[in-house]
Amino acid sequence: MARVVVTGGCGFLGSHLVEELVRRGDEVTVFDSGSPPPDRTPSPAVRHVTGDIRDAARLVEVVRDGVDTVYHLAAVVGVDRYLDRPLDVIDINLFGTRNVLELAAKAGAKVVVASTSEVFGKNPAVPWREDDDRVLGSTAVDRWSYSSSKALGEHLAFAFARERGLRAAVLRYFNVYGPRQRPAFVVSRSVHRALNGQPPVVYDGGGQTRCFTYVQDAVDATITVGTDDRAVGECFNVGSSAETTVTRLSALVTELTGAGIGVPVDTRDRLGSRYQDLRRRVPDTTKIGSLLGWRATTDLRDGLARTIGWARRNPWWLALPETGVQPERGR
Ligand SMILES: NC(=O)c1ccc[n+]([C@@H]2O[C@H](COP(=O)([O-])OP(=O)(O)OC[C@H]3O[C@@H](n4cnc5c(N)ncnc54)[C@H](O)[C@@H]3O)[C@@H](O)[C@H]2O)c1
Repeated sequence: MARVVVTGGCGFLGSHLVEELVRRGDEVTVFDSGSPPPDRTPSPAVRHVTGDIRDAARLVEVVRDGVDTVYHLAAVVGVDRYLDRPLDVIDINLFGTRNVLELAAKAGAKVVVASTSEVFGKNPAVPWREDDDRVLGSTAVDRWSYSSSKALGEHLAFAFARERGLRAAVLRYFNVYGPRQRPAFVVSRSVHRALNGQPPVVYDGGGQTRCFTYVQDAVDATITVGTDDRAVGECFNVGSSAETTVTRLSALVTELTGAGIGVPVDTRDRLGSRYQDLRRRVPDTTKIGSLLGWRATTDLRDGLARTIGWARRNPWWLALPETGVQPERGR
């Protein structure tokens, strides 16, 4: 049994992580500014503390002596939110992450920092290894504020490791999908639209590729990193190795839901220069495979079938307004 803290534990990835930690027998404290998803079964092993990670006085009530591991997932996530709330994106990733790391260092707790494939930016040389270059655009493009602030969070973690002896590891997730994800991302939104009788969204012709990673695989990687001392001081890509076009994804969603056909939507028309889409985003996962023995095992068809099955059983999710960048907006 370990005593763990999950910042962002009410979110998509965090809520699945909390459930898995409880199954393992850990004692979990969730620190989140929001509330748990409606379909999560309350557990006596989980304590909820509502707060903002930028508020160190509140966070210290949770990240303190006796905590073994902090899984730091709290962040502002999603293109719609980086465009609408760029200050929060930067503030939370920088000052919030600094608070988490500082308090964990004082408490002697290990920290697993959730980072993102976005740190690689638009480096065209895929697959990306952890030590590959970051290739970014102009600061006039809001998209890069998320990438840059997450990368600074990584730098902070390694700086705390060097100067304060913090035991930290960084995970860069690649396009995680599954039950509970806000309908603002390509998979969740396509499923949401299809089950609500609307065609899935296909951006920029749909030829771009992603490596869609089922949430349970991402959770397994996170706990592997959080519990294996060989991970300390390291950064790992966490993603599926199967590269899939958005067109193929749409076809699968259409087939598995029995819905209609896709309608091409151009994100460039919609977002202008504030956002730039990537043609390919592919992880090299050799490092986490060879060092820790993790690899993604859920095939996209299986993961989608589970996500669609869950969505059909959860009308509250189907009734959520479609968020993210609206295909109908800006035309
Ligand atoms: N889902 C993905 O595909 C993906 C990909 C790359 C990286 N990540 C990273 O994984 C982490 C979790 O992402 P997610 O998809 O679960 O997002 P999410 O938006 O579902 O969850 C984030 C959670 O953090 C909480 N939060 C936000 N600001 C906070 C603050 N200031 N203080 C306390 N809590 C706060 C939110 O209430 C939410 O519950 C994030 O750090 C994200 O950057 C996710």
